[in-house]
Amino acid sequence: MVDDQPAAYDEVAVAYSRAIDPDGVGLVDPVLTELVGDVTRRDVLSLACGQGQDARLLAGLGATVTGVDVSAEMMRYALRHEAAHPRGITYVEGGAQDLAAFADRCFDGVVCHMALMDIPDLAATIGSVARVLRQRGWFVFSIVHRCYRGHVEIVTDYLLDHRYRKRLPTDWLPTHAYHRPLGTYVDQLVGAGFSIERVVEAHHAASDAGGVPGLLYARAVQV
Ligand SMILES: C[S@@+](CC[C@H](N)C(=O)[O-])C[C@H]1O[C@@H](n2cnc3c(N)ncnc32)[C@H](O)[C@@H]1O
Repeated sequence: MVDDQPAAYDEVAVAYSRAIDPDGVGLVDPVLTELVGDVTRRDVLSLACGQGQDARLLAGLGATVTGVDVSAEMMRYALRHEAAHPRGITYVEGGAQDLAAFADRCFDGVVCHMALMDIPDLAATIGSVARVLRQRGWFVFSIVHRCYRGHVEIVTDYLLDHRYRKRLPTDWLPTHAYHRPLGTYVDQLVGAGFSIERVVEAHHAASDAGGVPGLLYARAVQV
């Protein structure tokens, strides 16, 4: 299994943390907030939490939050924000593909904000999410819309699972990511025992190219 993304995010962690939620107030995302619903006192895993902006959003909604990420450098910022303004978030360094740090059925929900396209093995990741969820547990994620690679790059080889080099690089994201067609996400979720409850296509402030949605969100539940 090729997994060079941890090093990639280690390299951009300073610029990422300067570009995204630099003051540590937490992600503001009405779609994600609606999809997770009432998380008061729920045990929620922020998968691939990076510097913790989505973990902070979930903690603000009343969840008991654990964040996991493979990048020690990204996690350094998450820990720094937690030290400055404690929200009771636990951060664990580890990989999304096996979630080895976590026992079976220990979370009510898992949130993965804008990271599945950075993780090489989607099937292993979704399988691990299913493993750590309790009965009727839910998985909410957001990804770059599958018709697009980055903010405004239209995918030409849509039906192929492939790793690609971004044509419009930024200094705060790695140069490569993974494209999978929407059907792959659906098949792998269903194969891991999920039922898909919601799919939301939304605009992204940085990618509103002629009215096309830059983001795709979904909520799936273990059945
Ligand atoms: C675009 S960032 C998103 C971070 C955070 N969720 C946010 O919205 O700011 C993608 C994150 O995925 C993490 N990541 C990439 N591969 C991973 C893996 N195999 N296991 C865990 N985290 C991974 C990176 O380290 C990075 O922090």
